[in-house]
Amino acid sequence: MSAPNKDYDPVEVTPLHADEVERMRDEALAAIASADSLERLKLVSHDHAGDRSALGLANREIGALPPQARKDAGMRVGQARGAINKALAARSEILEAEYEANALVDEAVDITLPWDATPIGARHPLTTIQETVADIFVAMGWEVAEGPEVEAEWLNFDALNLGPDHPARTMQDTFWVTPEKTALVLRTHTSPVQARTMLTQEPPIYVIVPGRVFRTDELDSTHSPVFHQVEGLAIDEGLTMAHLKGTLDHFAQAIYGPGMTTRFRPSYFPFTEPSAEMDLLCYVCHNEPGAVAECRTCRGEGWVEWGGCGVVNPRVLISCGVDPGRYSGFAFGIGLDRTITGRYDIADLRDLFDGDVRFTQPFGVEL
Ligand code: DAH
Repeated sequence: MSAPNKDYDPVEVTPLHADEVERMRDEALAAIASADSLERLKLVSHDHAGDRSALGLANREIGALPPQARKDAGMRVGQARGAINKALAARSEILEAEYEANALVDEAVDITLPWDATPIGARHPLTTIQETVADIFVAMGWEVAEGPEVEAEWLNFDALNLGPDHPARTMQDTFWVTPEKTALVLRTHTSPVQARTMLTQEPPIYVIVPGRVFRTDELDSTHSPVFHQVEGLAIDEGLTMAHLKGTLDHFAQAIYGPGMTTRFRPSYFPFTEPSAEMDLLCYVCHNEPGAVAECRTCRGEGWVEWGGCGVVNPRVLISCGVDPGRYSGFAFGIGLDRTITGRYDIADLRDLFDGDVRFTQPFGVEL
């Protein structure tokens, strides 16, 4: 640092000249006038009215002037800064008003637009029926079991006594996963979950298995390549066909109300012996003499087809590691899609799968 300059005449401090102060003021006023946003005005204010602005710095020089010059310069600078601050305040007021006016337009909400355009959805009847069935069986102490939709060929067929030559294994019915050597299929029924359960749990076993299954059926008003079943399996000591009948009758009453019952017709399934087709008493006419002839639901039969069932074939028990000398059991499988179309008089099965909210809405939000 150099020594004080004895020749220094503060009156000569350039920034404090009247012309210079005027120039700085005019420059500031012009910048303020041309600031077209509040952000811009803030920068202008910093540059022209801040402590480090030209006038702000000039202001610091005033103290070094002799008294009279200090008074003059103080007044000049003070007036210039006052004019600038006034202009800043006025411009800020205008810009704020503009900003608010724009915001009112930009952020306006058109309250005349319809507010209820999003329809309230409803739960799909296939979902609710699966939950209802599960609830009925869980209330009897059964457990809900699940299996994969892409299933091992062995579990879908072999373990269930569907030998390699069984017609259900041909390319016609089954979706095979390629390449063939993966030995995987899209499960054709929920029955492989029987095998999965027996292979992983010790009896007693009481499981109910709702799920999606696949077959190479055409899609038309009564067929679909994707459909839904619920499987039941009970394995315990001393179980007989009578326990099966009692369980299904209870199930029918829990879903369709008191007085409901089921009947068995002899049939064949590889995984049960003996096997039966199971019919449900018609839930519309109840097979009552005055009503049955006219009934459209059962077409005068008094009964509607509900599923297949039987006593678990000992060969299946052996395949799945269960001792047939000690345990026996029963199983059943029910198609859920036709249960729904029948119950609600739905003429076209495809309505279940189209995903049209207008179809599900009448079913409401049943929980
Ligand atoms: N899995 C059979 C089907 O898809 C239905 C079935 C019949 C399941 C008899 C069973 C049963 O558990 O015992 O057609």
